[in-house]
Amino acid sequence: MIIAPSILAADFANLQSEVNMINESAADWIHIDVMDGVFVPNISMGIPVVQAVKRHAKKPMDVHLMIVRPELYVEEFRKAGADSISVHAEACDHLHRNIEQIKNLGARAGVAINPHTPISVLENIIQDIDLVCMMSVNPGFGAQKFIEHTYNKILELKGLILKKSSSALIEIDGGVNQQNAPQLMKAGADILVTGNFVFSSPNPKQVIAKLKEV
Ligand code: DX5
Ligand code: ZN
Repeated sequence: MIIAPSILAADFANLQSEVNMINESAADWIHIDVMDGVFVPNISMGIPVVQAVKRHAKKPMDVHLMIVRPELYVEEFRKAGADSISVHAEACDHLHRNIEQIKNLGARAGVAINPHTPISVLENIIQDIDLVCMMSVNPGFGAQKFIEHTYNKILELKGLILKKSSSALIEIDGGVNQQNAPQLMKAGADILVTGNFVFSSPNPKQVIAKLKEV
């Protein structure tokens, strides 16, 4: 299981020490949530923050773009150090073109889908992507409640991945904690993003180590 702490929940005034904590922990990736105030009702961070994190990060950076017109920015995010880039299916009129663009830049390409978006939107793209970022909360904010219907969607996505012989990984993003992690893994999740659960703890490294044991 890949564990990807989301720095959305980190202390932005101490980002270097938060990144060092992730470096020293059992975490595998660093998840970075980019919000534009248009696709989602919140603004978080952009390219300069990704560059700054990159200067300290010893783990791959997984950039989740919650933005409209991602094709205008993916090259800059890649240059800033993104190892994987996910774009939202709901934000892309030309999803296949956007995915090709990310792959041509040499990054891992992901498609993110909102809780209400059916798995069927992935039917003709699943064979071309490296990961599906399945939202288990409505994107825009950390520390929200996990949506239980996610388990059924993971099973359905797993079925599609097998049917299409895709190698896409299943990433679950939102409300992940120690309670739901075992069931998420059983359902077929490969990557768990976790923000609030890790960063609100007095001992984030221990929380990450425990999630890794699931
Ligand atoms: C939500 C973000 C998530 C979120 C995860 O829009 O994509 O990555 O920050 O944080 P928690 O674990 O707090 O739900
Ligand atoms: Zn995210």
